[in-house]
Amino acid sequence: MFPDHGPWSPRVDAILHGGDYNPEQWLHEPKVLEEDLRLMRLAGCNAFSVNIFGWAACEPAEGRFDFGWLDRVIEGLHGIGAKIILATPSASKPAWLDAAHPSARRLRRDGRRLDHGGRHNHCPSDPWFRAKTRDVARRLAERYGRHPALVCWHVNNELNGGECHCPHCYEGFRAWLKARYGGLEALNTAWWNRFWSHDYTDWAQVEPRDPENLAQELDWRRYLTHANLEQFRHEAEPLRALSPGIPVTTNLMGPFFGGLDYWKLAEACDIASWDSYPAWARGDDAATAMRAAFCHDATRSLKRGKPWLLMESTPSNVNWADVCKLKEPGQHRSASLQALARGSESVLYFQWRKGQGGYEQHHGAVVDHEGSERTRVFKEVAALGAELPRLKPVLGSGVLAQAALFWDWENRWALELAKGMRNHDRGPELEAEALAYYRALWRRGIAVDLVGLGSSLAGYKLLLAPWLYMVTPAFAQELRAFVRGGGVLVTGVLAGCVDASGLCHRGGRPGLLRDVFGIWAEELDTLDAGVDPGLQALAGAPGLKGAYRVGAYAEVLHLEGAQALARFRRGWMKGKPALTGHRFGQGSAYYLATRPEAPCLEAFLGALAKGLALPQALPTAGRSLPEGVEASLRGKGPERFLFLINHLSRPRSLGLGQVQGLDLLSGKAVKARLSLAPYGAAVLHWREKA
Ligand code: GAL
Repeated sequence: MFPDHGPWSPRVDAILHGGDYNPEQWLHEPKVLEEDLRLMRLAGCNAFSVNIFGWAACEPAEGRFDFGWLDRVIEGLHGIGAKIILATPSASKPAWLDAAHPSARRLRRDGRRLDHGGRHNHCPSDPWFRAKTRDVARRLAERYGRHPALVCWHVNNELNGGECHCPHCYEGFRAWLKARYGGLEALNTAWWNRFWSHDYTDWAQVEPRDPENLAQELDWRRYLTHANLEQFRHEAEPLRALSPGIPVTTNLMGPFFGGLDYWKLAEACDIASWDSYPAWARGDDAATAMRAAFCHDATRSLKRGKPWLLMESTPSNVNWADVCKLKEPGQHRSASLQALARGSESVLYFQWRKGQGGYEQHHGAVVDHEGSERTRVFKEVAALGAELPRLKPVLGSGVLAQAALFWDWENRWALELAKGMRNHDRGPELEAEALAYYRALWRRGIAVDLVGLGSSLAGYKLLLAPWLYMVTPAFAQELRAFVRGGGVLVTGVLAGCVDASGLCHRGGRPGLLRDVFGIWAEELDTLDAGVDPGLQALAGAPGLKGAYRVGAYAEVLHLEGAQALARFRRGWMKGKPALTGHRFGQGSAYYLATRPEAPCLEAFLGALAKGLALPQALPTAGRSLPEGVEASLRGKGPERFLFLINHLSRPRSLGLGQVQGLDLLSGKAVKARLSLAPYGAAVLHWREKA
């Protein structure tokens, strides 16, 4: 049953449309701000994030506050009926602050303090900065916390977890380690410090500067998440205390950002939000759409399926890519609808009006330097603004997934830090492999949640774990219970290799899961590009027939109860298992000893999904949707909203089978077949019979 999540904020009863508004750039020209209000109405915008970088305007000199400009901006927006997402301005520090309080500037690993300038570069542990930002947050909450237009707090901006090597951070790190390990002896053991004579004999020696101490580096990354969370709490506490019920968030950068453990950060937020900048119009929009869908799903999963906010997106181009491509006409709509399809309750932009100068002067915005409503981008934004109210019934609905994909920051860090295997492309490899697995389900319109080491697997039938390198005892228990209870688990090379410290399990891979998979993985060979030991499917291999190309790895597996479902075809591993399957309790555990080519992986995972009868947003008897078409189903109670989106610049046509409904966008009843124009979309609405 689809849950009804209700309104995510007490004062919201519409899909939010608008975005970052940085009017402090035009305080010297009040006419611009008046004109903004006129244009905002024309663009159908109803929500703005303000004060993200407004610290110097709010506090021009230390202790001298001036909120007059912000009062006027908020009243102006309220006057046109717009909602306010109010930011604490801690993401960019005024010059007076950096000059008077250098401890707020990060210290680099080499001991040099960062200069004033830029943004997103404060020390996360500095007591003065924590107290100061708490005080600024308190003042904002006192002044605006009960304002009728306020719908959400936006703490800082894109916390980046950047490391600071100052004494406060090191003290914090040591205190965190003491709580985790108790004593130095336990720490030395967990970090394997006897090797290379790295034992610590005094806590003062613990300084995380040595990138070759892998376990230390892993804990240092964990600590940076902890320190950033502490800083976040200093700002969030007064906001929560003074405006009860108003949700607090911080805008994230998506699952491929590796600097912070987003599973932990999301716990501290009331609603998840992220900034989405896919590389549209760069040649393969189907792949771009899939990657964006993965990121949207990740954001939804951070709060276990609850609605989330698309906090930023560009209405046209970014200014930081290698090639800063425009979205093509129509593509802004399809990209925005995609976020809604996957659980967002907003379409918000960076930014409302292009600055005339500064770092982002050439970044896309709703209002161009030209300044009117005559631009293509403005017209497309306004057209979307006129359309979004039709999707109001979608509010509060959710996406229900029975499939999950394992994506975990601690696991990723352990893998990134490990030496060996493919040292040259570990990061891209992690991402590519997760997407390769995800693709099989996305192409079939099967909903997928992401899960991490701390997640419950209850409610899922299929778990894809392309990288299950680190397995804790608790997660091993969760996996056992999952498979034993009927779940299907698919993993690949190096599964179960290390514990929470990154220490290799003794007793053979896949470690704590050896009996679940019924194999022993003895050796892993890393293959040069183009080397293909080949995979020959055997009888009983789900979805597979004949020979396939493989690459990257070949692992030597011994069967300990599992069945070989495919074998290597060439080289010294010829004849050895390349894919195994093992019944464990009511479920099955599959192990891939190599990286198969896309058609092989898709056929295999597609067959598993079909065997489990995983629901497809648009049922196609398990087949893939036409290339570039995305299907996603939201629901609440008996209501269903089927989003069908064509991400390509050529028309597509879809058979709908038994599905029929009212297209909320066109207002027309649709059944049997649906034609989608280039970048076209439909949102079919119907009620399930009880
Ligand atoms: C985001 C950031 C915005 C803006 C935008 C440009 O990462 O939060 O402030 O810089 O990128 O794409």
